[in-house]
Amino acid sequence: IQLQHELDKLLSTVQECRQPPAKKELDGFAKLFGRFLQEEGPSVDWERIERLPENAVRDYSTLQKPSTDQVHTMLDKLVVVKLNGGLGTSMGCHGPKSVIPVRSDLTFLDLTVQQIEHLNKTYKANVPLVLMNSFNTDEDTQKIIRKYKGLQVEIYTFNQSCFPRINRESLLPVAKNLDIESDIEAWYPPGHGDFYDSFRNSGLLRKFIEAGREYCFISNIDNLGATVDLSILNLLLNGTQPTEFVMEVTDKTRADVKGGTLIQYENKLRLLEIAQVPKEHVDDFKSIKTFKFFNTNNLWAKLDAIERVLDQNSLNLEIIVNNKSLSNGLNVVQLETAVGAAMKSFDGGLGINVPRSRFLPVKKTSDLLLVMSNLYSLQNGTLVMSPQRMFPTTPLVKLGDNHFSKVKEFLARFANIPDLIELDHLTVSGDVTFGRGVSLKGTVIIIANHGDRIDIPSGAMLENKIVSGNMRI
Ligand code: UTP
Repeated sequence: IQLQHELDKLLSTVQECRQPPAKKELDGFAKLFGRFLQEEGPSVDWERIERLPENAVRDYSTLQKPSTDQVHTMLDKLVVVKLNGGLGTSMGCHGPKSVIPVRSDLTFLDLTVQQIEHLNKTYKANVPLVLMNSFNTDEDTQKIIRKYKGLQVEIYTFNQSCFPRINRESLLPVAKNLDIESDIEAWYPPGHGDFYDSFRNSGLLRKFIEAGREYCFISNIDNLGATVDLSILNLLLNGTQPTEFVMEVTDKTRADVKGGTLIQYENKLRLLEIAQVPKEHVDDFKSIKTFKFFNTNNLWAKLDAIERVLDQNSLNLEIIVNNKSLSNGLNVVQLETAVGAAMKSFDGGLGINVPRSRFLPVKKTSDLLLVMSNLYSLQNGTLVMSPQRMFPTTPLVKLGDNHFSKVKEFLARFANIPDLIELDHLTVSGDVTFGRGVSLKGTVIIIANHGDRIDIPSGAMLENKIVSGNMRI
């Protein structure tokens, strides 16, 4: 009751601000918060998790490619959505993550636009690109997308919700008024699960349904492997089974044990995230034998089914509680949801086990090193692994947090990106720099101790080598 009172108080300040969160958004927040207060215990009962049924996950290699003359009409039914609400702070950048240059001076956004433009040109199609921005990313994104005018891609944007952060002690909003700009830290974008409500509230969902579009393909803007896949679209549009929701999963390796997995529960497929797992079962959850797949967050959803589940109010996305501290030290809580958690609300959910190449996220500078290197070449906005690489796996790279975690620092440490074609494992720690034309092969470990600096000279070739201290190469 007190929360509602506080929210009403916030609403009464609406006239003072440039871009206030709408009443609908605050209602959405009140609903989420109400659920948070009421729910007790884990959202899954471990004992009731069932084995994945035989046909729950299709192998990608069994899917049929459509014939070229089918593709044009199939693309008329598709909308591509990129989740673009996140900032580049974890890589030390200000502004939207999608504007970080990742390859040949092209940003995530540039590459996405190139991909869709190529698709549209190749098939004389008109697949729209929809960006879900947040109040953190909208302004910069709008400035940048102007330069895509004239390209063969229609770009639409909408903003996800803006929710008030809650004081962890009092459980009341930190914000004193609705003017976000006056206290930006008091607000947050509530995770990509907010896509469904915000997409509908923007009017775009209805607009696309009315225009005859049937499916949307949703993915993280920082996943460079998330290209439009025609075989999956073919399965959705021309397959024998009605499918409202597809989650692309891929084989879990020891490096992915924290990723969300697919389970069968109450006769439906659903996403299980580590945050939902009771403590005593976390090791079971991490097992790559019991839970073989993880969620790539490449999702396909039927547009009219999204509208239906929203109308039925049956989209109960599990709440992710994110505890944070503000710059003034205040402990707050923000409630978030994940877009994949909606799977259980749809009929005919399906997992597709896709090749690892469809999951190429850039979360850290170590990922950036890989995508900038000669392991990949760029073809119409898509990164393609070099045929010179013996196995299609990517090397395991660990770069020291202190000297490499920010994009700017990272870039300054490489005169150019080394040859990584034969690299299996690279660990770099401390004050290390790389000259031009360095080549790294097998397992390479370079550790500069505190106070030392290691400069790998231009043209050096390091193969199965450990370099430490202030050793000369
Ligand atoms: P993150 O990079 O924040 O999530 O966002 P994550 O935890 O590493 O990845 P997942 O969720 O486990 O896959 C992933 C994508 O979602 C967008 C980001 O811009 C990025 O493209 N995002 C995240 C939003 O659009 N809104 C949000 O509130 C959070």
